[in-house]
Formats: sequence, C-alpha cells, structure tokens
Amino acid sequence: MRQLVAGNWKMNGVAASLGELAALKAALTSAPCDVLLCPPATLLAQAAAVADGAFAIGGQDCSPQDCGAFTGDISAAMLRDAGASAVILGHSERRQYHGESNALVADKTQAAWRAGLVAIICVGESDAEHEAGKSHPVCHNQISGSVPSTATAANTVIAYEPVWAIGTGKTPTSNEIAAMHAHLRRCLIEAVGAEGRGIKILYGGSVKPSNAAEILNLPEVNGALVGGASLKANDFLGIIAGVKPV
Ligand code: PGA
Repeated sequence: MRQLVAGNWKMNGVAASLGELAALKAALTSAPCDVLLCPPATLLAQAAAVADGAFAIGGQDCSPQDCGAFTGDISAAMLRDAGASAVILGHSERRQYHGESNALVADKTQAAWRAGLVAIICVGESDAEHEAGKSHPVCHNQISGSVPSTATAANTVIAYEPVWAIGTGKTPTSNEIAAMHAHLRRCLIEAVGAEGRGIKILYGGSVKPSNAAEILNLPEVNGALVGGASLKANDFLGIIAGVKPV
C-alpha cells in the first residue's frame, strides 16, 4: 500500500509561512509516498496555489452541515472549493476542546464525502486510558462510532494518535504501535467489511525525522500524521525520507 504522510499545521501559519510550502514543493520532485498538508483554513487557497498539484491540500475540520446559518463554521464544499481534497476529522483537540462525539465525527465524515473529500478520521486514547490498559477498547469504540459502515479505501483514512503522544515528544514503543495498528485493522474490517483491509491507518504523535523510518516501517502503519514537525519543510522532508519504499 502506498503510504501517506500528512502534515497538520493546527492553528499555526500566516501568509508569510507559505515559503515553507514553496520549499517543500521544490524538494518534492519524486516523493515515495502521497503527501498532504493541512494548513489553517485561511491559507487553504493560497497553499493550494503554491502546491500546484505537487502535494495535496486538506482542511482540519468541517461542519456536518452542507450550508446555512452556522456562523463561523466552514463546510466541506468550501474546503473543496478552496483547493482541499481531504479533511482531518475528530482530531483529539476537536474532541477535547470542542466536545466532539463519535456521532458528530461520523456526521462530519458523511458531509466530507458529499463534497468529494477524503475523511481522515482520528482516534486515540488519553494518558489515563493508556495507563489503565484501555487503549484497545477505547479505539475500538471510536472506530465503531466514528467510521460510517460505507467507508471505503478511496474515501477514508484512519489516524491513530495517542493523545499522550501529541506534542509531548513521547511515543509508544514500536511493539505498542504495531499491536494497535493490527487491532485497528481488525476493528475496521468489523466496521466496514472487507473494504477495511485497504483503508490506510496512519500513526500520529511526536513523529519527527529521527523516529520516522522506524515507525513507518512497522506492519500496518500506512503513513504518518505530523503536527509540529510539519511546520518546517526540512523536518517534514526528513519524515518523508523515512517512508518505506514500495
Ligand atoms: P505532533 O501532533 O506531531 O505535534 O505530536 C500530531 C497531531 O496532533 O496530528
């Protein structure tokens, strides 16, 4: 399976940051994987113009509604219109700071599909859940609640992001990541049937150039979702360099 390395700028970046994307484009002549960058919504159109097809552009969230009186919200069709081909949904920061439930993430996923976007659905356990040994059941519950049964390999990607590993410099052991990705593969097949075999499962949480190759070479790891280390082209390129050649 061709891997996907996706960058999530979160609430970082203004027009002056687009130089990093120009540098990324210049260095990405023959990437060994699919590359996606998700800037803040304010930069989407400009980022798409800079990327000019050298890498894909995505949003970080969308409304479950298609249009209407929802002040401040952004629809999937608007993301698409600005140049996005994918959208991150149910990131733990959305679940934590905006109270997003599995059901809402599933609704947003349907909205993303209606607009022709690939939904990147995030799951992952908290520190307390990890400590309590509940990581596998927590993620099973998130997959069964957030991933609609009609998900396909073409319209959906899963990102496993343990909350305690995001932005902390801590990562699970390679054995823990491999065991979780095997578990998520089983959960996906249970949720959507045989199609679940082809859905990419990314790892996210403190991925950096120094640990990317080890993580990206683990079984059932089909790419990475990268936060902090996607802000600088050189760091992001260092992660892409760790991709497993196919
Ligand atoms: P991080 O964030 O790479 O900065 O840990 C990952 C994410 O939240 O997507």
